[in-house]
Amino acid sequence: MDSFQIRLLAWYDKHARVLPWRISPQDGKLGVMPDPYHVWLSEVMLQQTTVAAVKSYFQKFIRQWPTVFDLAQADTDDVMKAWAGLGYYSRARNLKACADIIAHEYKGTFPETQAELMALPGVGDYTSAAIAAIAFGKKCNVVDGNIERVVTRHTANATPLPKAKEDCRTFMGKVTPEDRPGDFVQAMMDLGATVCTPKNPACGECPVHLDCAAKQSDTMSQYPVRPAKKPKPTRQGAAFIVQRKDGAIWLHKRPDKGLLGGMAGLPTTGWTASLDGAVGLDAAPFSGAWNSFKFIRHTFTHFHLELEVWHIHSNNTVDEGWWSLPEDIKNEALPTVMKKVVIAALPHLFQERKPK
Ligand code: ADE
Repeated sequence: MDSFQIRLLAWYDKHARVLPWRISPQDGKLGVMPDPYHVWLSEVMLQQTTVAAVKSYFQKFIRQWPTVFDLAQADTDDVMKAWAGLGYYSRARNLKACADIIAHEYKGTFPETQAELMALPGVGDYTSAAIAAIAFGKKCNVVDGNIERVVTRHTANATPLPKAKEDCRTFMGKVTPEDRPGDFVQAMMDLGATVCTPKNPACGECPVHLDCAAKQSDTMSQYPVRPAKKPKPTRQGAAFIVQRKDGAIWLHKRPDKGLLGGMAGLPTTGWTASLDGAVGLDAAPFSGAWNSFKFIRHTFTHFHLELEVWHIHSNNTVDEGWWSLPEDIKNEALPTVMKKVVIAALPHLFQERKPK
């Protein structure tokens, strides 16, 4: 039997996913290297988000800011607007800070070693290893969620995560080849995403199923072993849509620090992870003929949020902010939870106009 690496890379040559930040394995063999700016941008976007969700954001960013110099010159608020909907918004601020460093301190050339990459804002152990391997062909130890699943199954590792991660790193350290390390880690990711899937893995299509310990004992569904999940608490609060006669709604910029930091938002009560906010009309920023639109639910990493949605026609403003006209709302840096609030009361603001 060929080695694990040989079988996996032969499979990747045939089945690599076509992704907008990737070069094909065939081009790679001809010596073509991917653009490090593309690799870095995609890896930061993929940190907490799926490939399916990232694709269109990646393409929008590349169209708007084709090089790292363009991104470095961008207005931070425009970057936040383009990021709106991807979540984990500190990533967008770090992205901009990192582009500034690459453009100014590195004269536009990304550093190639994992240690230098890791010193950049928003680039941790995983992301630096992925960039060094994929963009620069360095043999680095890359372990993401897909790779954890493939490796814990292959080795039938009964240690619960996150402890099993160390074993996965040891396995990857042994099997990652000197030649084509970038293709190898992407092959592992693709195998996890398309064949060694969480449910109903397609073992018949797997190039390494013959020496897969889980397959041999038909125990694929038992790996990876996860610690019992803590139930998420539900927090409560209220959000207030103030709408002027011309349809504009009152928005403000949320403080840079904290949840949804630096993004646009509606006036709301507090709903931090440690404190429920007030609900009902007593919590409204001013008294008047408020209409209730029930509530919306949104799930964050550590809690569910239920927000009561209130709407009023008024010229009153609330603290510092701006009026956003109906045609501008779609382009504001509104995180998904805030979009849900607006849609609850004013769905037409987010409906695509039908072409005439
Ligand atoms: N997930 C994280 N990085 C990825 C990549 N380069 N290709 C596919 N999936 C990924």
